[in-house]
Amino acid sequence: MKNNSNTSNMRENAKKHLIQPWPYASSIGSEYREFVSNGNGIYIEDTKGNKLIDGPAGMWCSNIGHRNEEIAKVMYNQAMDLSYNSPWYTSNEPSAKLSKLISDYAPGDLEHVFFTTGGSTAVESALRFIHYYNNVKGRPEKKLILCREDGYHGSTYLSASLNGKSRTSDWMNYENKNIIKLSSPKSFRIIENKSIQEFEDDLIDEFEDKISEYGPENIAAFIGEPIQASGGVIVPPKNYFKRMSKICKQNGILFIADEVVTGFGRLGHIFSSEKVFEVIPDIICFAKGVTSGYFPLGGIVISKKLIDELRSSNHSDAMFGHGLTYSSHPIGCAVALKNIELMENGILDNVLELSPIFQSKLKTLLDLPIIGDVRGEGLMACIECIADYDDTNPLSLDIKVGEIIDKHCQKLGLLLRPAINMCILSPPLILNKNDIEKIVNILREGITLAMDELKSKGIWSN
Ligand SMILES: Cc1ncc(COP(=O)(O)O)c(C=O)c1O
Repeated sequence: MKNNSNTSNMRENAKKHLIQPWPYASSIGSEYREFVSNGNGIYIEDTKGNKLIDGPAGMWCSNIGHRNEEIAKVMYNQAMDLSYNSPWYTSNEPSAKLSKLISDYAPGDLEHVFFTTGGSTAVESALRFIHYYNNVKGRPEKKLILCREDGYHGSTYLSASLNGKSRTSDWMNYENKNIIKLSSPKSFRIIENKSIQEFEDDLIDEFEDKISEYGPENIAAFIGEPIQASGGVIVPPKNYFKRMSKICKQNGILFIADEVVTGFGRLGHIFSSEKVFEVIPDIICFAKGVTSGYFPLGGIVISKKLIDELRSSNHSDAMFGHGLTYSSHPIGCAVALKNIELMENGILDNVLELSPIFQSKLKTLLDLPIIGDVRGEGLMACIECIADYDDTNPLSLDIKVGEIIDKHCQKLGLLLRPAINMCILSPPLILNKNDIEKIVNILREGITLAMDELKSKGIWSN
């Protein structure tokens, strides 16, 4: 064992040995990020004793809130019963039960579930499955995947290759050959000279043009988040998804809904594709909220039609050469079963009841001159500050005003997820009306302090 003298100093340990996600070369492996020491309900606490509302619910995942004793007991009991079994040649009860439950909730004929370790591996599995499916069907040329700017689908090689521009890095490699990017369905500012209907029509025209350009025989699938989460909670025009799905069906292109964020309660339903967007995808990807962040688990639900086609193909020996050590993990699946039970017993109803209040209270912030847009659906929302476009309120994106607002809100007791000129909110689904009031009050004060700071530094005026 190497020199161990410094182990008592957590900060030094992290700075010296821990590589944080998404680091920069200048600080890789030497960066300290504030420790969170504990969580309870909608709150987290840092090591200095500051108690904060967990505004982003971790990373869109702590849906039922922190320190849920029932979940903790399930984890303990499952670990004592069976901590792990190899999914290569054995099976376990929680994963069998969970696959049935998920298929009961999934729309249409989606009834076959493959479990992964999170969202990236869910998306990666969906893409690899579709490529395999087309190979077995004797059309290996049908490989292209259409995705969109502002989308986020993960950090594995293929899933990261689908991410929109702001997420790609010049320093990373991506699979470019089989990926085509469509425009973002973000209407804010883009529609200045168009109606929302014209904007929707343009998006649909673009999709149809791409299909004509590349040929439907070469396009395997379209993948989209029903609401683009990390891109800034982008809610598409009303009939956009329905129309995209119809075009997919007409052209033999599979529709993959990435419900890693919109699934498991965020919009008040276990899956939102059909309930909110009136679409029945061919595959749904899920993760995060499925275990409310208590255990890493994700997965895909695949339609019966696709599985039947494989079973009846002429290639009974064609193996789907894909599986993870932790596919169908018994603890993750047991946690998900309890998590869904808790959601059914009041949490989904709470989301449906509070969503309109949450959205309308947040919209009251629009009177602050730095705010350009407040948008969202369910319990996910984004506050976008004015940047670049408006000559009367110029504010460069380089200012990263989201971070300045977050800094002030944290001092007032609310953690946000800043993203350039935006602040994203997706609180635990167990919050109440008073919590919403508190969040909006802190936001108003934090944004006002941020405006004062920008003005005093001569960066912005209104
Ligand atoms: C829509 C979406 N898909 C996939 C992912 C990747 O999930 P994970 O980080 O669990 O791999 C994310 C993560 O934020 C996401 O928001």
